[in-house]
Amino acid sequence: MDNFTFYAPTYFAFGKDTENDTGKYVKQFGGSKVLIHFGGGSVIRSGLLDRVKKSLDEENIAYVDLGGVQPNPRSGLVYKGIDLCRSEKVDFILAVGGGSAIDSAKAIAAGVPYNGDFWDYYQGRSVKEALPIGTVLTIAAAGSEGSYNSVITHENGMLKRSTTGEVLRPKFSVLNPALTQTLPPYQTACGITDILAHLYERYLTNTKQVEVTDRLIEGLMLALVHEAPKVMANPNDYDARANIMWTGMLAHNNSCGVGRSQDWASHDIEHELSALYDCAHGAGLAVSMPAVFTYNMKHDVTRFAQAAHRVWGCHMDFADPENTALEGIQALRRFLKSIGMPLTFAELGAKEEDIPKLAKMACHGDVRTGTVGGFVKLNEQDVANIYRLML
Ligand code: NZQ
Ligand code: ZN
Repeated sequence: MDNFTFYAPTYFAFGKDTENDTGKYVKQFGGSKVLIHFGGGSVIRSGLLDRVKKSLDEENIAYVDLGGVQPNPRSGLVYKGIDLCRSEKVDFILAVGGGSAIDSAKAIAAGVPYNGDFWDYYQGRSVKEALPIGTVLTIAAAGSEGSYNSVITHENGMLKRSTTGEVLRPKFSVLNPALTQTLPPYQTACGITDILAHLYERYLTNTKQVEVTDRLIEGLMLALVHEAPKVMANPNDYDARANIMWTGMLAHNNSCGVGRSQDWASHDIEHELSALYDCAHGAGLAVSMPAVFTYNMKHDVTRFAQAAHRVWGCHMDFADPENTALEGIQALRRFLKSIGMPLTFAELGAKEEDIPKLAKMACHGDVRTGTVGGFVKLNEQDVANIYRLML
């Protein structure tokens, strides 16, 4: 196991009606003037925004709001949010929504105290200072409610890039699984897929002897695969929603990723798809993951066979573990299809003729160094081959 430090001080309030205490948590973490940041309107339609505002009113906390974050959040609204926070002297950012609202909030939080262009942070500069952030989560997916990451697409060039910084971990996150019951089935499934991907990206490691994190990841995958059909069959199954919501947090606050190398090829390859075609991140991952795994399988057949056996229940073929590894990837595909995810390029609206451009963006766009992935270093040619596997 590699050396690591781990400090994940987000305060979680989990369960029914917890959003009604949002104002108390903002006060507890020092906010006196809040920017409420949200997406395209689901939080207005559900009445959540009003409840959150009421809880702020009850604590005499002033606020301004900025909605309109779109899935795969864009830089334009971030610049607007930074200006608004500066002119309104905002000292706390509250995201109400999914990963997109939270990531946009994180970008604004980092941009407000910074003299340069916030986009510098998405080109390799790590974030050292940011306004405090709180979240009220409405979809179990990106894990941004507990993570130190943010992903933004710059309209100039449509590059989708991420940044990290411990200061980006939310001070608090309110997780009420009942809030996710209004999700359309497709978005629920996209979220489940993203959570699964966050686990796989950490499972695919070159670090030896990391039994504890291997087992944590396998356990979370098993729980997710067990709960997913329940929630797809009955969107109002509160306990299944609750299990999935907490899995989403555990999958991505990096408690499963410490002390080991990680991959992230499926994500980097997917991000170009959601940047170019504006597909949902989870849907893109459903297409990228099986292709990346198939391409990388020979790098460590045992690891893929282990996942196939322990997570997907495939029979371990000791004489030829490649069979088991392949069966595991097939089982993953079947699972993704069963929850309504796409499996091919065409289903995402992606085009074969764009493959050279996509591969170039993935490997060389902005400050990329020519390869993606930590498990296997994939160059532009490899990435193009992987996109072809998705056809
Ligand atoms: O915008 P609204 O109207 O709120 O609608 C959203 C949006 O259309 C809707 N939705 C969310 N909660 C709902 C709801 N509709 C009805 N009822 C509810 N309770 O769902 C749609 C998707 O929302 P979004 O916030 O985009 O979803 P998600 O949480 O999957 O976030 C995706 C973004 O996160 C990034 C992705 O790349 C993508 O840009 N990621 C962020 C990460 C991080 N910060 O750590 C890691 C991830 O790997 C990921 O890359
Ligand atoms: Zn993801």
